[in-house]
Amino acid sequence: MPLIDVRNVTKIFGARPERALARLKAGAGKEAILAESGNTVGLYDVSLSIERGEIFVVMGLSGSGKSTLIRHLNRLIDPTEGEIVIDGNDILKLSIRELEAFRRQKTGMVFQRFGLFPHRTVLQNVAYGLEVRGEPRAKRHARAAEWVATVGLSGYEDQYPAQLSGGMQQRVGLARALCTDPEILLMDEAFSALDPLIRGQMQDQLIDLQSRLRKTIVFITHDLDEALRLGDRIAILKDGSLSQIGTPAEILLSPADDYVRAFVKDVNRARVLTVETVMKPPPLRLTDETLEQALAEMQRQGAEIGYVVNARGYRGVVTRDSVNAAIASRAGPTVDEIAVGAPSIAPGASLAEALPATLSSTYPLAVISRDGSLEGTLSAAQVGEILTPSKDLEAA
Ligand SMILES: Nc1ncnc2c1ncn2[C@@H]1O[C@H](COP(=O)(O)OP(=O)(O)O)[C@@H](O)[C@H]1O
Ligand SMILES: [Mg+2]
Repeated sequence: MPLIDVRNVTKIFGARPERALARLKAGAGKEAILAESGNTVGLYDVSLSIERGEIFVVMGLSGSGKSTLIRHLNRLIDPTEGEIVIDGNDILKLSIRELEAFRRQKTGMVFQRFGLFPHRTVLQNVAYGLEVRGEPRAKRHARAAEWVATVGLSGYEDQYPAQLSGGMQQRVGLARALCTDPEILLMDEAFSALDPLIRGQMQDQLIDLQSRLRKTIVFITHDLDEALRLGDRIAILKDGSLSQIGTPAEILLSPADDYVRAFVKDVNRARVLTVETVMKPPPLRLTDETLEQALAEMQRQGAEIGYVVNARGYRGVVTRDSVNAAIASRAGPTVDEIAVGAPSIAPGASLAEALPATLSSTYPLAVISRDGSLEGTLSAAQVGEILTPSKDLEAA
């Protein structure tokens, strides 16, 4: 079961949304509705599920409904229509007290403009959520100090926000949101106000933190590069409606409509796509077969090449010809001994990193995971195919 389930949510701002809702369902557009009744369509029939432990990015142009969507997740906004189910609970049914407890315990929020308390020190800002919860001072300060250290701000505990750079202030914002150990982290354009260099560092830090914390993070951005970098999955909003939900590779390789195509057309695919998203499935894997067994196996599977991976790890490549030749010369008892080294590559490497090796290797590269298993193969031809923009992409 997903942690967050948004079901057919529509939000219409302004008085008496019923008529606007009916007009919307009859096919009227956002502009027309605004002109007719003054109502603004914030979201229209948005459904999406967010899994535990993923970074789910919501992307779209300014005004597309990103903030409206994220504010529904902790009920800063109630929908005009639809349901929001979190951890199996319909949050629209929570009483005010239950809602407060839910916000305090399950969610943490990081804002674009940092939202720090100017008259509180870094440590007091970070400890704020625990203070609201009524934790004793010593305990909350000890916990806050740990988070200050985790985001790399040790030594700044007693400074005030105005004494810090933007990037440092947002680290405080992040530490504050994490200090209450929320299951869900809501980040609305949290890095958008930062300079590109600092922004990149914050993205790195978030990825690093997430690899240890495994929170469920809903991250809003208008920046596609940021979305591709951070998102396990990305939802793209246009005028309050969903255009597409997919992994970065799906968004890049199969954009659903012209809006998404326009976003992705200038992306450097080689830097964004990883080997595992484009590799071929695992080829014939040989372990410690005798030459005769290996040959029989290759013939049976119609494979010209076999990749030898045994207890000693990836050993290299054999071909039908090399096995035949070895049998003729009685060269060795197992395939291991005649395998020739061919480069391998990690599944998480970018295509840009993999390309030189694919070009210099006679055989497709073996894609070998950290635990030594053979995940697939990657050839220069495959990389070339992916990096060549298709006709419809060029037209966008
Ligand atoms: N409180 C509000 N009252 C009226 N209209 C609003 C309100 N909040 C947002 N909107 C409108 O809803 C649409 C979506 O806004 P928003 O969610 O803030 O977009 P984004 O975060 O993607 O820039 C916009 O047209 C915006 O003007
Ligand atoms: Mg916004």
